[in-house]
Amino acid sequence: MGRAKKVVLAYSGGVDTSVCIPYLKNEWGVEEVITLAADLGQGDELEPIRKKALKSGASESLVADVKESFVKDYAFAAVQANALYENRYPLGTALARPLIAKILVEVAHEYGADAIAHGCTGKGNDQVRFDVACAALNPNLKILAPAREWGMSREETIAYGEKFGIPSPVKKSSPYSIDKNLLGRSIEAGVLEDPTVEPPEEIYEMTKAMADTPSQPEYIEIGFTRGIPTSLNGAAKNPVELIQQLNQVTGNHGIGRIDMIENRLVGIKSREIYESPGMLVLIQAHRDLESLTLTADVTHYKRGIEETYTQIVYNGLWYSPLKTALDAFIQTTQERVSGTVRVKLFKGNATVVGRWSDHSLYSPDLATYGSEDQFDHKAAEGFIYVWGLPTRIWAVQSRS
Ligand code: ARG
Repeated sequence: MGRAKKVVLAYSGGVDTSVCIPYLKNEWGVEEVITLAADLGQGDELEPIRKKALKSGASESLVADVKESFVKDYAFAAVQANALYENRYPLGTALARPLIAKILVEVAHEYGADAIAHGCTGKGNDQVRFDVACAALNPNLKILAPAREWGMSREETIAYGEKFGIPSPVKKSSPYSIDKNLLGRSIEAGVLEDPTVEPPEEIYEMTKAMADTPSQPEYIEIGFTRGIPTSLNGAAKNPVELIQQLNQVTGNHGIGRIDMIENRLVGIKSREIYESPGMLVLIQAHRDLESLTLTADVTHYKRGIEETYTQIVYNGLWYSPLKTALDAFIQTTQERVSGTVRVKLFKGNATVVGRWSDHSLYSPDLATYGSEDQFDHKAAEGFIYVWGLPTRIWAVQSRS
């Protein structure tokens, strides 16, 4: 009796997920492995990957194009939440996992599978995100993670695969571990494991080296509708187009590189390099538009919500009651966050230089230092008297 009869495996086409197929069947007694590759705009050719799964022993090999939902339902929700893990990482990898889990569970239902499988090891965040998301969506499905248990080295894994006709990587495979999708690239391992070493230029694909960026600034205008990015330079864009074009123009100016020591949920500190030009600029522009359209108290209170939101997304709790509750708060705040933000791109910097909204709370009559000033200066005196009263009482008391 195996651990499961019919399994849906999250498939990338790499050695580890390919080896999972014969491993599940031969070591764990699984009768049927259905693979599912998600198209998240990673730029891989998916047809060869689909065929490779069949050659590796899958009974069915599926590809799901989920680009649109990925950007609209996951990435743009994170933009509304201004989500930056440890103030820096815009969650490109973390946001993809709950969507992959969702389609794994859907396919499991469709094909009557009794388990989900993935190729994550036991050291990362992604295993947590897959396992918890699948459990939230269907707690009756088993979750199998062969790479968490098989204890094979890289060489042993390749050798195991070769026994079952899985070719070893032809070109000398990259020393880096890279996860990529429409939101960016996450790069670790190799020389990057030494936190004192500057990342070599070769690791970057979406962002230009500073020496090669244009010597003139470029201005772009990003339009938002209820906190969702909807246009670029005055032209309406669908979500996928928008993020693709934005990655391109901002990456061209060397914007979006992040080199950080990151605290994983499993307690390990890791050195990760990200390039995520579009998402970083979207969050910066969105936050700026919020400062124009939200009241002070909502803006300030939302910072705390954003911090919690970011932590729970990073930590794999996308499908959870707390996330749902925070979503409701965030959605309410976004009702009037519509308008346009003008951003200057130059030599690795994106700078907001202008913002407009029909819902602007900025009042020139009150803000001006000129003669049109409508603010009642005399009223400030009474306000300050009451505002400062506790401090005044404390100061008197502490001197006696
Ligand atoms: N540390 C990031 C996260 O947990 C990205 C991990 C992606 N994997 C990689 N091979 N770089 O979201």
